[in-house]
Amino acid sequence: METNIDNPVFVLLVLSIFLLCSLVRICDGVDIIRQGQTVRDGDTLVSEAEIFKLGFFSPENSTLRFLGIWYKVDVKAVVWVANRNNPISGNNGALRIGVDGNLVVFDGNNNLVWSSNVLRFSLNNTTVILQNSGNFMLSSNESIGDTNGVHWQSFNNPTDTFLPGMRVQVNSAIGEYHAFTAWKSANGPSPGNYAVGVDPHRGPQIIIWDHMKRRWRSGQWNSVIFTGVSNMSNIASFLYGFKLSQPDENRTQYFTYNSSKPSDLLRF
Ligand SMILES: *[C@@H]1O[C@H](CO)[C@@H](O)[C@H](O)[C@H]1NC(C)=O
Ligand SMILES: *[C@@H]1O[C@H](CO)[C@@H](O)[C@H](O)[C@H]1NC(C)=O
Ligand SMILES: *[C@@H]1O[C@H](CO)[C@@H](O)[C@H](O)[C@H]1NC(C)=O
Ligand SMILES: *[C@@H]1O[C@H](CO)[C@@H](O)[C@H](O)[C@H]1NC(C)=O
Ligand SMILES: *[C@@H]1O[C@H](CO)[C@@H](O)[C@H](O)[C@H]1NC(C)=O
Ligand SMILES: *[C@@H]1O[C@H](CO)[C@@H](O)[C@H](O)[C@H]1NC(C)=O
Ligand SMILES: *[C@@H]1O[C@H](CO)[C@@H](O)[C@H](O)[C@H]1NC(C)=O
Repeated sequence: METNIDNPVFVLLVLSIFLLCSLVRICDGVDIIRQGQTVRDGDTLVSEAEIFKLGFFSPENSTLRFLGIWYKVDVKAVVWVANRNNPISGNNGALRIGVDGNLVVFDGNNNLVWSSNVLRFSLNNTTVILQNSGNFMLSSNESIGDTNGVHWQSFNNPTDTFLPGMRVQVNSAIGEYHAFTAWKSANGPSPGNYAVGVDPHRGPQIIIWDHMKRRWRSGQWNSVIFTGVSNMSNIASFLYGFKLSQPDENRTQYFTYNSSKPSDLLRF
């Protein structure tokens, strides 16, 4: 963690180009989709403050297509990927809200390659919003920031990036939690060998696993810093509000951090 935190991406805001929309097709500048609307390959959603974009992308030197979220200023700064395990070949992928209210991604032959997979009777008339935090949130309520009626969110289903506002759970009843998994290679977001997460036992600490083998640990959290990370106190705790929350009713605590403004574009 200490090696990435000194790489915050700084940025200039860029004016967005608003295209004319057809009735069911989404185009740049919109941050929400509703039942019946489709994000096709080439279309993008943009968060309201123009920080994050969502759409189909290809990793460098690859022609395979993935649905993902990236910083609007840099398509290479991908922070979340939906169909990590099921790349789409060809530029005919599409994201929409299925009849049961789940988010679904189809390839050009109408094969399902990814679903939010919320198992409920029927979610009914859901909407999904790309928030300024980078959270892609499926809910029955369009009110931005309202967490009531949230059925699924990308912040609870991360890939390899820990963004401000995300919560990493710590609960000794649950045990080791592999929260984030690295890309297999720079050209492919399928899950690689390395994971990072939390070992909650005897004072929580951050672990990097190679498969199931421990490769690095942070030392225990002493409520200000991880004791094995020598100069952490100068950076994470004080500048970025890195902290462990109080236990909730289920004795779950969360590691969180914060950025004073989303436009700082911090990420682990
Ligand atoms: C879904 O919407 C219909 C009306 O469109 C309503 O009658 C039904 O109760 C809703 N179902 C749920 C689970 O909210
Ligand atoms: C679905 O929700 C929208 C607003 O979110 C509302 O205008 C519409 O009437 C709803 N449709 C049904 C069938 O409930
Ligand atoms: C949606 O959220 C707003 C703001 O929190 C709240 O006032 C409203 O009652 C909610 N609507 C529904 C249908 O849950
Ligand atoms: C993409 O290919 C070029 C040329 O072969 C190479 O220099 C570059 O490192 C590759 N990038 C990645 C991410 O593999
Ligand atoms: C942490 O300390 C090392 C050695 O003192 C130094 O080289 C490095 O720049 C420091 N990192 C940060 C982010 O302050
Ligand atoms: C605690 O767990 C119960 C059962 O899983 C769940 O319904 C509830 O939302 C949890 N509470 C919190 C604060 O997450
Ligand atoms: C994070 O920052 C926001 C705005 O700067 C503030 O409202 C919020 O309380 C902070 N959260 C934490 C956990 O410090």
